[in-house]
Amino acid sequence: MVNIEQSKSYKFAGYDTVELAKKYGTPLYVLSEEIIRSRCREIKTDFLDKHKNTKAAYASKAFLTMTMCKIIESEGLGLDVVSGGELYTAIKAGFPMDKVMLHGNNKSYDEMEMAIANDVGRIIVDHIDELYMIEDIAARLSKTVKILIRVAPGVGGNTHKYITTGQKDSKFGIPLAKETIDEAVIKAMNSRHIELMGFHFHVGSNLFENDSYIAAIDVVMNLYRRLKDDFGFIAKEINTGGGFGIYYTKNDSVKPLKYYTDSIMKAIEDKCKELEIDIPTVIIEPGRWIVGEAGITLYTIGAVKEIPDTRTYASVDGGLPDNPRPALYSAKYEAVIANKYDHKPDRKVTIAGKCCESGDILIWDLDVPQIERGDILAVLSTGAYNYSMASNYNRIPRPAVLLLTKDGEKIIVERETYDDLLSKERVPF
Ligand SMILES: Cc1ncc(COP(=O)(O)O)c(C=O)c1O
Repeated sequence: MVNIEQSKSYKFAGYDTVELAKKYGTPLYVLSEEIIRSRCREIKTDFLDKHKNTKAAYASKAFLTMTMCKIIESEGLGLDVVSGGELYTAIKAGFPMDKVMLHGNNKSYDEMEMAIANDVGRIIVDHIDELYMIEDIAARLSKTVKILIRVAPGVGGNTHKYITTGQKDSKFGIPLAKETIDEAVIKAMNSRHIELMGFHFHVGSNLFENDSYIAAIDVVMNLYRRLKDDFGFIAKEINTGGGFGIYYTKNDSVKPLKYYTDSIMKAIEDKCKELEIDIPTVIIEPGRWIVGEAGITLYTIGAVKEIPDTRTYASVDGGLPDNPRPALYSAKYEAVIANKYDHKPDRKVTIAGKCCESGDILIWDLDVPQIERGDILAVLSTGAYNYSMASNYNRIPRPAVLLLTKDGEKIIVERETYDDLLSKERVPF
């Protein structure tokens, strides 16, 4: 076993990650409150304060706990939720409901009812049936519900096909075919319980260019003009979704937030001028951009298997259950051997997870120094879509989530136990 005291260890947000691994065990999700807050503040200075009539909602699918709701609330942002569970988390955290937007391509009646009963700020309608559902529930509860209609603008993002969403052939959004969209708009306009505020699109995730936003804006603003001409309908809002790319590896050409938001604003302003329509309130919904780089995952290296002239596999005590993204989208990550941070990498190893799946590989060909059982691996940029996508595959308990704050580190989600895995089981014989 390596003497980890002798080597310089990797620090994250000012904390010694080897110490954290020793104290809390591995695998361990580690999140920096300061990084999350600094991202929220950048949204404030470079978007909300810079451009009039703008709003930002954190896309909570990236990472959601009640503590995260508290951080987002205190930074003054709204919240995008996409299921009853995300909505319930926000309600339990006391998040201001008027700043919550409910998404989802197949919302259930119960989810709709929970949202309407709790006066959520917006429902993003994804299918015409939802308008009937909303009308029915809102009439019963004597409410008026503000909605946006999600459209598929026919523009895909240049990203993995599982995270491109704005193309015509998509499960998300109401198709822009005239008869389909007009039916939805007329239905919404004629409902006493629905107030149609505008439209929503989300072209894709982890995008490094702004062209797909600009193309989608063109399509949607043309729709605004046509709806004004055809029905006298004036859309007051446009929601351009999330999707801003973050740093995972050195191949990612990361851009600042304003690269996206300035061009979104300019495209909307220019197009409104050209079409002679009023500039709507602009809403963005970043998820990964707020929390992705704020998180790392710590693992302990176990079996190191060298296949002569072929490859060396180093297995960790987690993998696919705590981070399914490499298996799902061939997502790439960088990582360091935290207890040998000052050792020069001189070889490549492939980091394997511990699941019974050949596809459970976290990182192919990672540059490392000599590694051995007991070393601590820190995988970087795991704050988004790791904890929120985690499973118990192979009956592996989910890791704890540790928040690094100015006042010390705090466990915000306990590590699951084997008893947790059994807690919902009933044995009928
Ligand atoms: C409607 C919507 N908004 C926002 C997001 C957040 O995307 P990202 O985390 O890439 O910013 C998503 C991601 O799937 C989405 O579907």
